[in-house]
Amino acid sequence: MNNSAVTAVPAPQEPAVEDFAGDALAGLSAQPKTLPSKYLYDTRGSELFEAICEQPEYYPTRTELSILQDEAASMAEAVGPRALVVEYGSGSGIKTQRLLDALPDPVAYVPIEISHSALNASVAELATQFPEIEMLPLCADFLQPVRLPASERPAERVLIFFPGSTLGNFDTDAAVRLLTTMRTEMGDNGAALIGIDLKKDPAMIEAAYNDAAGVTADFTLNLLDRMNRELDADFDRERFTHRARYNAIAGRIETHIVSDCAQTVRVAGRPIAFTEGEGILVEYSCKYSQSDFAAMAHRAGLVVTRSWTDADRRFALQLVEPLPE
Ligand code: AVJ
Repeated sequence: MNNSAVTAVPAPQEPAVEDFAGDALAGLSAQPKTLPSKYLYDTRGSELFEAICEQPEYYPTRTELSILQDEAASMAEAVGPRALVVEYGSGSGIKTQRLLDALPDPVAYVPIEISHSALNASVAELATQFPEIEMLPLCADFLQPVRLPASERPAERVLIFFPGSTLGNFDTDAAVRLLTTMRTEMGDNGAALIGIDLKKDPAMIEAAYNDAAGVTADFTLNLLDRMNRELDADFDRERFTHRARYNAIAGRIETHIVSDCAQTVRVAGRPIAFTEGEGILVEYSCKYSQSDFAAMAHRAGLVVTRSWTDADRRFALQLVEPLPE
């Protein structure tokens, strides 16, 4: 078997190009101001996100890991042998290891990730741990439908893995579009295993996005530093504050960068004016009930066939499969 394929194969589609300057200027000129949350994850942002996962208040990561561990046998049985495992994004090393460890004889692992460096790093690591699994990294934007590569050994079915409640970064319509893309990609015999953060005591949710050590605030405000570095902007971090509040009606954390005073900042040569207390929306983290998620899945032509949760019902891993015609 060929395990030397640790270099990303280019997607057959046009590679998606990020336009940080264009997206930032468009978002900062809008009313209310917004910035796409994907720009939080530069090198520094990804490091800070790893640190968030270690904070005592941030329960999702360790809860999801414990479910993957405790329910491994049941998940293996539900998925079955010789799956071609596709992961949307490649940032979850340890979760991927637990899944690949649990599944019976998976034939290939296909991470889909826009960053070449992140993609190659994750695959290099997994290739040494799982020499018997073919590594087929795909450098692409997982929001765009891709044609999946064929594995050397025939796969029984496709399993798309989307952990971390990353789905919660998208509003409902965008989440349904992403689930619809998954439905197309998995084929009629496929499945997806999706991590979602469940609705619970708002105080517990808010604490997770306002850790006492201030790591989440640092993560959010890093976006200002990134604009200073990459877009020749002149944000003064001392004049902005991280704010993460739970909107119980919408069922989501809404994270803003709030201007402490009236001020004008230059971004890529353009003046951007802030009033005192004006915020930039930088992230949604949607929380779901089991029925919220089932309804979204249904709109995408999917049905929840299994659901695994922890004893406190904080987090869930949902197995979805195509709705019967
Ligand atoms: C990686 C998007 C799932 O929303 O909980 C954590 C990102 N932001 N703390 C989340 C995040 C602030 C995280 N996701």
